[in-house]
Amino acid sequence: MKVTTKTIRQAKRTKALVCLTAYDTVTARIASHGGADLLLVGDSVGNTILGFENSVSVTLDMMVHHTAAVARFKTDALLVADVPFGVAHDDFPGVLHACTRLLQAGADGVKIEGGTALAPVIARLVAAGVPVCGHVGLQPQQVRQLGGYKKFGAKDSAEFESVQADALAVERAGVFAIVGEMLAPALARAIRDALEVPLIGIGSGPDCDGQILVIHDLLGLTENPPGFAKPFAELGVAAVQAVAAWAATVRDTSAR
Ligand code: KIV
Repeated sequence: MKVTTKTIRQAKRTKALVCLTAYDTVTARIASHGGADLLLVGDSVGNTILGFENSVSVTLDMMVHHTAAVARFKTDALLVADVPFGVAHDDFPGVLHACTRLLQAGADGVKIEGGTALAPVIARLVAAGVPVCGHVGLQPQQVRQLGGYKKFGAKDSAEFESVQADALAVERAGVFAIVGEMLAPALARAIRDALEVPLIGIGSGPDCDGQILVIHDLLGLTENPPGFAKPFAELGVAAVQAVAAWAATVRDTSAR
Protein backbone atom coordinates (compact mmCIF):
# COMPACT_ATOMS: atom_id res chain seq x y z
CA MET A 1 0.00 0.00 0.00
CA LYS A 2 1.26 3.48 -0.88
CA VAL A 3 2.85 5.30 2.05
CA THR A 4 1.41 8.79 2.45
CA THR A 5 2.33 11.74 4.64
CA LYS A 6 -0.61 10.66 6.83
CA THR A 7 0.91 7.16 7.21
CA ILE A 8 4.22 8.77 8.18
CA ARG A 9 2.56 10.99 10.83
CA GLN A 10 0.63 8.01 12.21
CA ALA A 11 3.84 6.01 12.61
CA LYS A 12 4.77 8.20 15.59
CA ARG A 13 5.01 6.00 18.71
CA THR A 14 3.80 2.92 16.79
CA LYS A 15 6.34 1.99 14.11
CA ALA A 16 10.01 2.82 13.46
CA LEU A 17 10.34 4.58 10.10
CA VAL A 18 12.93 3.21 7.68
CA CYS A 19 14.13 5.90 5.29
CA LEU A 20 16.86 5.90 2.65
CA THR A 21 18.14 8.20 -0.04
CA ALA A 22 17.62 7.25 -3.68
CA TYR A 23 19.05 9.08 -6.67
CA ASP A 24 17.94 7.05 -9.67
CA THR A 25 15.75 4.11 -10.70
CA VAL A 26 18.28 1.51 -9.51
CA THR A 27 18.66 2.87 -5.98
CA ALA A 28 14.88 3.45 -5.81
CA ARG A 29 14.31 -0.22 -6.69
CA ILE A 30 16.88 -1.48 -4.15
CA ALA A 31 15.59 0.73 -1.32
CA SER A 32 11.94 -0.08 -2.09
CA HIS A 33 12.44 -3.82 -2.36
CA GLY A 34 14.44 -3.68 0.89
CA GLY A 35 11.40 -2.25 2.63
CA ALA A 36 12.05 1.50 2.97
CA ASP A 37 9.00 3.55 4.00
CA LEU A 38 10.39 6.80 2.61
CA LEU A 39 12.79 7.51 -0.25
CA LEU A 40 14.59 10.84 -0.14
CA VAL A 41 16.05 12.28 -3.31
CA GLY A 42 18.64 14.01 -1.16
CA ASP A 43 20.81 16.86 -2.32
CA SER A 44 23.56 14.52 -1.06
CA VAL A 45 23.33 13.48 -4.74
CA GLY A 46 25.99 16.21 -5.12
CA ASN A 47 28.71 14.51 -3.10
CA THR A 48 27.42 10.91 -3.41
CA ILE A 49 26.91 10.73 -7.17
CA LEU A 50 27.96 13.90 -8.96
CA GLY A 51 31.48 14.33 -7.59
CA PHE A 52 30.93 17.67 -5.85
CA GLU A 53 32.53 18.40 -2.51
CA ASN A 54 29.18 19.08 -0.84
CA SER A 55 25.51 19.79 -1.55
CA VAL A 56 25.93 23.53 -2.15
CA SER A 57 26.62 22.97 -5.86
CA VAL A 58 23.37 21.08 -6.42
CA THR A 59 20.83 23.04 -8.49
CA LEU A 60 17.06 22.77 -8.79
CA ASP A 61 17.44 21.37 -12.33
CA MET A 62 19.66 18.57 -10.97
CA MET A 63 17.12 17.79 -8.24
CA VAL A 64 14.27 17.69 -10.76
CA HIS A 65 16.30 15.36 -13.03
CA HIS A 66 17.09 12.90 -10.21
CA THR A 67 13.57 13.10 -8.73
CA ALA A 68 12.07 12.16 -12.10
CA ALA A 69 14.52 9.23 -12.39
CA VAL A 70 13.55 7.93 -8.92
CA ALA A 71 9.84 8.44 -9.66
CA ARG A 72 10.08 6.31 -12.81
CA PHE A 73 10.41 3.36 -10.44
CA LYS A 74 6.85 3.02 -9.21
CA THR A 75 7.36 2.74 -5.48
CA ASP A 76 4.95 2.41 -2.57
CA ALA A 77 7.39 4.38 -0.41
CA LEU A 78 6.78 8.09 0.13
CA LEU A 79 9.01 10.00 -2.29
CA VAL A 80 10.48 13.19 -0.86
CA ALA A 81 12.82 15.55 -2.74
CA ASP A 82 15.24 18.06 -1.22
CA VAL A 83 14.81 21.74 -1.94
CA PRO A 84 18.41 22.65 -2.84
CA PHE A 85 20.71 25.35 -1.51
CA GLY A 86 19.39 28.91 -1.52
CA VAL A 87 16.00 28.15 -3.07
CA ALA A 88 13.93 28.26 0.15
CA HIS A 89 15.19 31.83 0.70
CA ASP A 90 13.80 33.06 -2.62
CA ASP A 91 10.60 35.12 -2.62
CA PHE A 92 7.47 33.03 -2.04
CA PRO A 93 6.44 32.61 -5.72
CA GLY A 94 10.01 31.44 -6.42
CA VAL A 95 9.94 28.85 -3.61
CA LEU A 96 6.46 27.65 -4.62
CA HIS A 97 7.57 27.36 -8.25
CA ALA A 98 10.61 25.27 -7.20
CA CYS A 99 8.45 22.96 -5.06
CA THR A 100 5.91 22.66 -7.89
CA ARG A 101 8.68 21.49 -10.24
CA LEU A 102 9.77 18.82 -7.72
CA LEU A 103 6.19 17.63 -7.18
CA GLN A 104 5.52 17.58 -10.92
CA ALA A 105 8.71 15.51 -11.39
CA GLY A 106 7.06 12.88 -9.18
CA ALA A 107 7.86 13.78 -5.56
CA ASP A 108 5.12 13.31 -2.96
CA GLY A 109 6.64 16.03 -0.81
CA VAL A 110 9.72 18.18 -0.32
CA LYS A 111 12.31 18.53 2.45
CA ILE A 112 13.56 21.94 3.51
CA GLU A 113 16.64 22.50 5.67
CA GLY A 114 16.01 25.24 8.22
CA GLY A 115 14.26 26.13 11.44
CA THR A 116 12.52 29.13 12.99
CA ALA A 117 13.57 31.55 10.23
CA LEU A 118 11.98 29.42 7.50
CA ALA A 119 8.83 28.48 9.43
CA PRO A 120 6.69 31.23 7.80
CA VAL A 121 7.67 30.03 4.30
CA ILE A 122 6.97 26.41 5.27
CA ALA A 123 3.53 27.41 6.63
CA ARG A 124 2.68 29.13 3.32
CA LEU A 125 3.86 26.11 1.31
CA VAL A 126 1.77 23.75 3.44
CA ALA A 127 -1.24 26.06 3.00
CA ALA A 128 -0.62 25.93 -0.76
CA GLY A 129 -0.77 22.12 -0.68
CA VAL A 130 2.95 21.27 -0.62
CA PRO A 131 3.73 18.51 1.90
CA VAL A 132 6.95 19.54 3.68
CA CYS A 133 9.43 17.55 5.77
CA GLY A 134 11.61 19.69 8.07
CA HIS A 135 15.35 19.27 8.65
CA VAL A 136 17.04 20.61 11.81
CA GLY A 137 20.36 20.25 13.61
CA LEU A 138 23.20 19.89 11.13
CA GLN A 139 22.06 21.44 7.88
CA PRO A 140 24.68 20.37 5.32
CA GLN A 141 23.70 23.29 3.03
CA GLN A 142 25.23 25.55 5.74
CA VAL A 143 28.62 23.82 5.55
CA ARG A 144 30.35 26.99 4.33
CA GLN A 145 29.05 28.95 7.35
CA LEU A 146 29.85 26.12 9.75
CA GLY A 147 33.30 25.37 8.32
CA GLY A 148 32.58 21.62 8.52
CA TYR A 149 30.13 19.05 9.84
CA LYS A 150 29.59 18.81 13.59
CA LYS A 151 27.33 17.43 16.33
CA PHE A 152 24.59 19.74 17.65
CA GLY A 153 23.57 20.26 21.28
CA ALA A 154 26.36 18.21 22.84
CA LYS A 155 28.11 20.96 24.79
CA ASP A 156 26.31 24.25 24.27
CA SER A 157 22.97 24.71 26.06
CA ALA A 158 22.00 27.73 23.90
CA GLU A 159 22.53 25.57 20.81
CA PHE A 160 20.49 22.75 22.41
CA GLU A 161 17.58 25.15 23.00
CA SER A 162 17.83 26.78 19.60
CA VAL A 163 17.67 23.44 17.71
CA GLN A 164 14.73 22.38 19.89
CA ALA A 165 13.00 25.71 19.10
CA ASP A 166 13.68 25.13 15.36
CA ALA A 167 11.98 21.72 15.52
CA LEU A 168 8.93 23.09 17.31
CA ALA A 169 8.68 26.07 14.93
CA VAL A 170 8.66 23.91 11.80
CA GLU A 171 6.22 21.51 13.43
CA ARG A 172 3.85 24.45 14.12
CA ALA A 173 4.32 25.44 10.46
CA GLY A 174 2.77 22.09 9.46
CA VAL A 175 5.57 19.70 8.48
CA PHE A 176 4.64 15.99 8.39
CA ALA A 177 8.00 14.82 9.81
CA ILE A 178 11.38 16.27 10.73
CA VAL A 179 14.86 14.98 9.92
CA GLY A 180 17.21 15.61 12.85
CA GLU A 181 20.82 15.38 11.72
CA MET A 182 23.81 14.98 14.06
CA LEU A 183 21.86 15.73 17.23
CA ALA A 184 23.41 14.85 20.57
CA PRO A 185 21.42 11.86 21.93
CA ALA A 186 19.85 13.94 24.74
CA LEU A 187 18.73 16.57 22.22
CA ALA A 188 17.26 13.92 19.91
CA ARG A 189 15.35 12.44 22.85
CA ALA A 190 14.04 15.85 23.97
CA ILE A 191 12.90 16.73 20.44
CA ARG A 192 11.33 13.32 19.79
CA ASP A 193 9.37 13.55 23.04
CA ALA A 194 8.23 17.13 22.37
CA LEU A 195 7.02 16.55 18.80
CA GLU A 196 3.71 15.18 17.59
CA VAL A 197 5.27 14.41 14.18
CA PRO A 198 8.02 11.79 13.76
CA LEU A 199 11.67 12.71 14.27
CA ILE A 200 13.77 10.86 11.68
CA GLY A 201 17.36 10.72 12.87
CA ILE A 202 20.68 10.57 11.07
CA GLY A 203 23.79 10.43 13.23
CA SER A 204 21.51 11.26 16.18
CA GLY A 205 21.44 7.97 18.08
CA PRO A 206 18.60 5.49 18.53
CA ASP A 207 16.11 7.73 20.38
CA CYS A 208 14.26 8.88 17.25
CA ASP A 209 11.03 7.73 15.59
CA GLY A 210 12.97 6.34 12.64
CA GLN A 211 16.31 6.54 10.87
CA ILE A 212 17.52 7.76 7.50
CA LEU A 213 20.79 6.89 5.76
CA VAL A 214 22.50 7.68 2.49
CA ILE A 215 22.03 4.43 0.57
CA HIS A 216 25.62 4.41 -0.72
CA ASP A 217 26.90 4.49 2.89
CA LEU A 218 24.64 1.56 3.83
CA LEU A 219 25.75 -0.50 0.81
CA GLY A 220 29.47 0.09 1.26
CA LEU A 221 29.80 2.21 -1.88
CA THR A 222 31.16 5.34 -0.15
CA GLU A 223 34.92 5.72 0.23
CA ASN A 224 34.88 7.53 3.57
CA PRO A 225 31.43 7.11 5.14
CA PRO A 226 30.61 9.06 8.31
CA GLY A 227 31.36 7.14 11.52
CA PHE A 228 27.69 6.65 12.41
CA ALA A 229 26.85 5.01 9.04
CA LYS A 230 27.86 1.37 9.43
CA PRO A 231 27.85 -0.37 6.04
CA PHE A 232 25.59 -3.44 5.94
CA ALA A 233 27.28 -4.73 2.75
CA GLU A 234 30.57 -4.15 0.88
CA LEU A 235 29.22 -3.66 -2.64
CA GLY A 236 32.08 -1.34 -3.60
CA VAL A 237 34.63 -4.12 -3.02
CA ALA A 238 32.38 -6.69 -4.73
CA ALA A 239 31.96 -4.41 -7.76
CA VAL A 240 35.70 -3.87 -8.19
CA GLN A 241 36.27 -7.65 -7.91
CA ALA A 242 33.58 -8.29 -10.55
CA VAL A 243 35.17 -5.79 -12.97
CA ALA A 244 38.66 -7.22 -12.36
CA ALA A 245 37.40 -10.80 -12.90
CA TRP A 246 35.69 -9.83 -16.17
CA ALA A 247 38.76 -7.84 -17.29
CA ALA A 248 40.95 -10.91 -16.71
CA THR A 249 38.50 -13.11 -18.67
CA VAL A 250 38.46 -10.68 -21.60
CA ARG A 251 42.27 -10.51 -21.65
CA ASP A 252 42.57 -14.31 -21.51
CA THR A 253 39.92 -15.23 -24.04
CA SER A 254 39.69 -12.49 -26.67
CA ALA A 255 41.13 -13.32 -30.05
CA ARG A 256 44.07 -11.07 -30.99
O1 KIV B 1 20.56 14.96 1.35
C1 KIV B 1 20.52 14.02 2.15
O2 KIV B 1 20.93 12.91 1.85
C2 KIV B 1 19.93 14.27 3.46
C3 KIV B 1 20.11 13.29 4.58
C4 KIV B 1 19.22 13.60 5.73
C5 KIV B 1 20.07 11.87 4.31
O3 KIV B 1 19.34 15.29 3.65
